[in-house]
Amino acid sequence: MTSHRMPAGSDPARPGPDHPLTIWVDGEPVPGTAGQTIAGVLLGAGRRQWRTTSQDGAPRGVFCGIGVCFDCVVEVNGLRDVRACLRRAQDGDVVARQGAGPEATP
Ligand code: FES
Repeated sequence: MTSHRMPAGSDPARPGPDHPLTIWVDGEPVPGTAGQTIAGVLLGAGRRQWRTTSQDGAPRGVFCGIGVCFDCVVEVNGLRDVRACLRRAQDGDVVARQGAGPEATP
């Protein structure tokens, strides 16, 4: 069986209707779908970077995508250093960018 012969409604990778959600990123609403990670929501919205490095301010977003590199960390609902590639987005999550080093901490 190939995916080309499967009707869209019977695709097991997409078994049901989308359940939309909204997260708030730096004060702006960003739409997503239940089941997506925060990184997935951000990437789906066209955002490729949401953090900078402490050494030279280089932009970072998803690098490994599996929770190993910590390049994707964000603040979620006041909790710092949350890996966006692992944290499943919840409707109403408040996400803020964060820098990597102490100089970025207020
Ligand atoms: S992208 Fe590497 S930990 Fe999230």
